Amino acid sequence: MNDIAASSFFDPQVIADPFDYYRAWLPKSPVVPLSEGMFLVLSYDLCVQATGAVDIFSNDFQATLSGAMAEDGDVAAILAEGWPQVDTLLTADPPVHTRFRKLVNLAFSMKRVAAIEEDMRRVVVGLIEAMAEKGEGDFVRDFGIPLPVAMIASQIGMEKDLDRVKRWSDAFVDRLGRMIPKERELECAREVVEFQHHVKAKIDERRANRTDDLLSDLVHAEVDGERPLEDAEILSIMQQLMVAGNETTTSALAGGLLQLIENPGQMAKAVAAADAGDERTILNLVEEVLRIESPTAGMWRRVLKDTELGGVAIPRGAMVQLRYAAANRDPARYPDPDRFDIERANARSHLAFGKGIHMCIGNMLSRKEMAVAYSELLTRLTDFRLADGHTPSWPPNMLLRGLTTLPIMFRRRA
Ligand code: HEM
Repeated sequence: MNDIAASSFFDPQVIADPFDYYRAWLPKSPVVPLSEGMFLVLSYDLCVQATGAVDIFSNDFQATLSGAMAEDGDVAAILAEGWPQVDTLLTADPPVHTRFRKLVNLAFSMKRVAAIEEDMRRVVVGLIEAMAEKGEGDFVRDFGIPLPVAMIASQIGMEKDLDRVKRWSDAFVDRLGRMIPKERELECAREVVEFQHHVKAKIDERRANRTDDLLSDLVHAEVDGERPLEDAEILSIMQQLMVAGNETTTSALAGGLLQLIENPGQMAKAVAAADAGDERTILNLVEEVLRIESPTAGMWRRVLKDTELGGVAIPRGAMVQLRYAAANRDPARYPDPDRFDIERANARSHLAFGKGIHMCIGNMLSRKEMAVAYSELLTRLTDFRLADGHTPSWPPNMLLRGLTTLPIMFRRRA
């Protein structure tokens, strides 16, 4: 195991199943030099350290990444029919980041999250009842995708566009992961432009008539008498909310159910907790799923000045990937880290949502979706198992990791 080459991180098979790689490299070198000017950070403490040093480890990585993996002319020509990508939340540093984060924080107020919960339970129960009729199905297709898509679509005023929201979201994710053939790159660029024109029309509608949703709040947002947001800025925020809110939560929901199926002792504890209305254990189950699944497996940082991390010299201009998924299985932090334990005492300290100023803005929303989903699933259905002959697999993506299909069988509870 110990001779896994550092550069094999780019191997699609390793990226799809990276755990041997983490186990081999974490004790040897928590900061792995991947290639010229590119590093991987694997340990919990060093990921935390880097997320806290925003003056050195910058989130302004979009331009560098697109420079490193330049758009080809055909892709650029398609994108030119839309709006330019501007840095707002994920890919901005202070003070720009601070301004946008304030605006979106306001829109994700407690009042809105509370209003969502009732709606969420209705959606969850509806999806479960539709599955229960059949006794089998693809959990990703029938539950994992539609729940977060419905929740985020209603927040951004696209509840009537569920299929399109998913299609656009997939296109952005594929562009981010960049392990796609040229044909798909062209298709993704067309999806991006279609998304932008669609949302731009909705922005114009809301400029004329205010509505009660997050998009309208953003269109009319003003903090400290600052200028209103421009179209390209609103498009960037909307795109991030849509993308970040979909694929990651789908992966967490499906990955968590698979963990429960594969660990019958933990499944029994979770069912007992759901039956007893033991919210604390269900919430801890959610945290343990997030820790062990870590759907956002890694996130980039661009290094602004010569520095060192864990004793490794990192030059200005380097790209560093904080590998949250490896940090979440760091044995120094989580004893027996590969074991799925819904009663793990420090599960909630995981880095699945990152840490510091960029910590996930949707964390409360996705935690709530997962808690409602598992408690309703476990009280309404039973005897979950994988469909005969199915072996779960994960498509390669440099940043996100999640199941794209999970065929299961189950019974309705008596
Ligand atoms: C299980 C589900 C989710 C996971 C694992 C996840 C993971 C993450 C992580 C790791 C980051 C930090 C990135 C960094 O370190 O630079 C992040 C940021 C972000 N997330 Fe999530 N996320 C999830 C759900 C959501 C949802 C539901 C939304 C929106 C509705 C959302 C919106 C965002 C946004 C806008 C940012 C950027 C925040 C900033 O830079 O200030 N995420 N997410």
